[in-house]
Amino acid sequence: MQPMPSSSLTLQPRRDLVRPWDTSDAHQRRRQAASRHREMAMSDPYATIADADASMQQRLSDVLELRASDAQQQAMLRAYLSEIELPHGARALEIGCGTGAISRTLVESLKFEVTGVDLSPVFVARAQELGKHLPGLTFLQGDGRSLTLNDASFDLVVFHTTLCHIPDPVAALREAHRVLRPDGWLAIFDGDYPTTTVAVSDFDPLQTLVSAMVANFVHNPWLTRHLSRTLVSVGFQVRRLRSHGYTQTVEPTYMLTLVDRGADVLSGSGSLTPDAADALRKEARRRAQAGEFFGHISFVSVIARKSKPISGGGS
Ligand SMILES: C[S@@+](CC[C@H](N)C(=O)[O-])C[C@H]1O[C@@H](n2cnc3c(N)ncnc32)[C@H](O)[C@@H]1O
Repeated sequence: MQPMPSSSLTLQPRRDLVRPWDTSDAHQRRRQAASRHREMAMSDPYATIADADASMQQRLSDVLELRASDAQQQAMLRAYLSEIELPHGARALEIGCGTGAISRTLVESLKFEVTGVDLSPVFVARAQELGKHLPGLTFLQGDGRSLTLNDASFDLVVFHTTLCHIPDPVAALREAHRVLRPDGWLAIFDGDYPTTTVAVSDFDPLQTLVSAMVANFVHNPWLTRHLSRTLVSVGFQVRRLRSHGYTQTVEPTYMLTLVDRGADVLSGSGSLTPDAADALRKEARRRAQAGEFFGHISFVSVIARKSKPISGGGS
């Protein structure tokens, strides 16, 4: 057999798709749309929230409060918090507290002393306003990857749907480890976002919207799949990892925010015309009205402990 010419073994760029010589308006528009779409990928606004414009921060803070008022979300929160054994008055830190809904629950239901930290001054201001009636609740603006809090000063650190939004989650976990007392508790709850679906059949166009939403609003959708190993490498002992199914059919208020954000992403990048994006938003609402909507995300919770120092050494 003759050896193949080396050029046929090399992957060639798809020149038929790039077509630099094609200067027609339609082709240029497609290229610009593709390039805008690439730029938007990995642009999770939560990861750089302090730079997001005020209307985006306001919109996201409304979504956080909407989600926190959802009975299924509250049940998942109660389920994983029930695995933590700490007395009233324990000191808890929530990293990435947003508008403070989870921190408020830690104070109201578990009677902990809670500090919430978030990158966004807009979220922190709203958290302070919504939590001002609760003694034992403090909110600070700060970066979870470089906290200005003392070593070994908390009994519990919580990341609730936050770690997947932080570029360099290991830095945030190291900070959590540092501020926890020996044997302190760590609770992480996050979406297993590759499972996000609103499809009710093959090639359902609504699925494209939620996939675009996940790609553009979640910095690391695969975080949960690597979490156990990452935690061990930082010095935690994993006690329990489990999944929680979240499904909305009637009144899918939260899943519709995913559909809408995906429609905005795709019309903003030029992948969909505004009319097409609008038609898909309407289709989602039609399904909800007709009892045909199905939306699902699997969430994952992990409860871990900071390993105790070994005979006088650091942990
Ligand atoms: C999806 S929200 C979750 C908010 C809150 N835990 C809840 O469940 O309602 C993610 C939060 O992480 C915050 N965040 C992102 N990167 C951060 C960082 N490096 N340090 C602190 N907070 C951060 C965002 O500002 C946002 O409030």
